[in-house]
Amino acid sequence: MTHTDGGAGRRTAHARSYLMCPPEHFTVQYVINPWMDPARPVDTVRAMAQWRNLRKTFTGLGHQVRTISAEPGLPDMVFAANGGTVIGGQVLGARFRYPQREPESAAYLRWFQQHGFPLAVPPRSINEGEGDIIFAGHSVIAGYGFRSDEAVAPQLAGLFGLPVVSVRLVDPRFYHLDTALCVLDADTAAYYPAAFDDAGLAALASLFAELIEAKDTDAEVLGLNAVSDGRHVVLPAQACGLAEQLSAAGFEPVGVDMSEFLKAGGGPKCCTLELRS
Ligand code: ARG
Repeated sequence: MTHTDGGAGRRTAHARSYLMCPPEHFTVQYVINPWMDPARPVDTVRAMAQWRNLRKTFTGLGHQVRTISAEPGLPDMVFAANGGTVIGGQVLGARFRYPQREPESAAYLRWFQQHGFPLAVPPRSINEGEGDIIFAGHSVIAGYGFRSDEAVAPQLAGLFGLPVVSVRLVDPRFYHLDTALCVLDADTAAYYPAAFDDAGLAALASLFAELIEAKDTDAEVLGLNAVSDGRHVVLPAQACGLAEQLSAAGFEPVGVDMSEFLKAGGGPKCCTLELRS
């Protein structure tokens, strides 16, 4: 028998702990990114089914999922990745660019303080949590340009004791770093080159030994908004080309349908905040 998996045996899965927020109050009722159009209604029953399937996918892969209660009036709270940044049990709270989402900061900070993260600290600068701040094993990559401020870097470096590499985002469709970059493991990432400037591309090239370039069609369904445990990569099911590239690189792509969340500019990774102990 021939192997067509690119040697999947060389990638190792690690058990993760994630925080998710059910889409009980999820709708698209304001516009803060180019994907959002309040005239295109969200099917809330379908959104809940897609979210439950994502949670089941994570638990089926052996990961722990904790949940935070959704609050009425905060339709984007389902995007837990924006709720903060958690590395080594330390938490930096979020501060949102737009007033529509700002009350989420306190809701998430409260959750951290009440659930084993007593030292969670409020941020000095605007930063939309792991939407823009990505842990890359030995460093932290911080995206800025649309949502988070570049000025968050010193606080990140001080709190987490890791080097911080700031990269500018240049395409408004990819307004959060986690829509254009997916760290697969400490040495490997997938990314969409057109979302970065030359300095950002050079920074990514020096951080990762192996870089997978996503095609337009996959980036445009937010295929890079994916969650990796080092082996399994949970990504939007429509990103078929990226799934093939991941398989060829030895990862196991796991497609999930998150089409209702795409209407708000979100995908599986946006709905997931990793709690790193
Ligand atoms: N509608 C939300 C916003 O624009 C989507 C957030 C997506 N989250 C993410 N981590 N990329 O803020």
